Amino acid sequence: TPLERANNVSDLRLMARRRLPRPIFDYIDGGADDEVSLRRNVAAFADYELIPDVLNDVTEIRTETSIFGQPSRWPLMLSPTGLTRMFHGQAELAVAGAAAHHGLLYSLSTMGTTRLEDLAQAFAGPKVFQIYIFKDRGLTAEFVARCRAAGFHGLALTVDTPVAGNRERDRVSGLSMPPKLTVRSLLSFLRHPGWSVPAMTGSKFDLANVSHKVDALASGPMSLFDYIGGQFDRSIGWREVEWLAREWDGPLAIKGVMTPEDAHRSIASGATGVMISNHGGRQLDGAPAPVDQIEAVREAVGDAADVICDGGIRRGSDVVKALALGATACSIGRPYLYGLAAGGEPGVNRVLTILRAEFNRTLTLAGINDIAALSLRHVHNRLRSPS
Ligand code: FNR
Repeated sequence: TPLERANNVSDLRLMARRRLPRPIFDYIDGGADDEVSLRRNVAAFADYELIPDVLNDVTEIRTETSIFGQPSRWPLMLSPTGLTRMFHGQAELAVAGAAAHHGLLYSLSTMGTTRLEDLAQAFAGPKVFQIYIFKDRGLTAEFVARCRAAGFHGLALTVDTPVAGNRERDRVSGLSMPPKLTVRSLLSFLRHPGWSVPAMTGSKFDLANVSHKVDALASGPMSLFDYIGGQFDRSIGWREVEWLAREWDGPLAIKGVMTPEDAHRSIASGATGVMISNHGGRQLDGAPAPVDQIEAVREAVGDAADVICDGGIRRGSDVVKALALGATACSIGRPYLYGLAAGGEPGVNRVLTILRAEFNRTLTLAGINDIAALSLRHVHNRLRSPS
């Protein structure tokens, strides 16, 4: 099958690009402003060299770990992404199904297109819900209660989105939320019959986790997107993190932390981990690459906290580098979306299979038979000091 011909994440990206109308592809692929952070997130990994050990027995490699207190077959998880139904009709269920098949944690976005209860029912694997602290704290508290009742294992609080980033590709392509049919977008949609417009229009496309709110409001023309857009609160601070940590009282990661100071503050405020992230370069352009912050963040939070490197992972070897620098695990967004767009659940499975094979091959070649043995000794940044 064509999916089997994909050798790497980059091949799947090209398949997704062929399959999707351009505005939809650009929505996945693009970042904020000049996309400096987007490119840097990926490029930064190349500045790290892997220092191998030789003549270690690598017949068996131990890769199991625990993230958000849940078992994971290897140190990778799937980041939350919104509006997934735009990319493939199987939407979040395809992604969560593939994650379960591979023994990995899945995260569902608040902006997802599948109800969290439906996702939890379809899929018994470990799962995290990505939450926001909204102006209406009652809405956030309602999510906490729903996640607990549905059996979610952890929460990821996204804090890098007080306003939407400036995504100029979306402006140029005329993509709006929800997608509207302009002449230009219609032409692009018609040229991509492998992708179906009905998948995202009408009743099947909505922000499934908040739609009941707008129905309840019954306040005329206010759309779901206006409602949720109006809920973003620029005033939230650490007190609100403490409140959420108390309210949830379970594994909680702060997503979007970039500095050792904020990482320390996150744990002091009741979080059990941080996701070092610049939202995949979609928010603050110019923010550093997550991989470059791992070492300092780990030092600031100690051994117990989860430190997850989120952004720029395109090879299994990137995960090895992040672990050597002190990360608990890595998390991916675009790589699985490329797979989803290229071929639904089998496409996501293909990405995860490729990354897993790359990860194991890298460990084998580097002489590491247990991920717990990875340390700073195994990684060297060429830009910071000569080899
Ligand atoms: C995202 N991301 C994101 N994050 C979040 O907290 N809530 C969300 O709803 C979304 N939505 C979203 C949509 C799309 C299309 C993308 C590409 C990303 C960010 C995501 O969780 C993650 O931080 C990045 O995708 C990681 O970078 P990579 O792996 O894409 O390089």
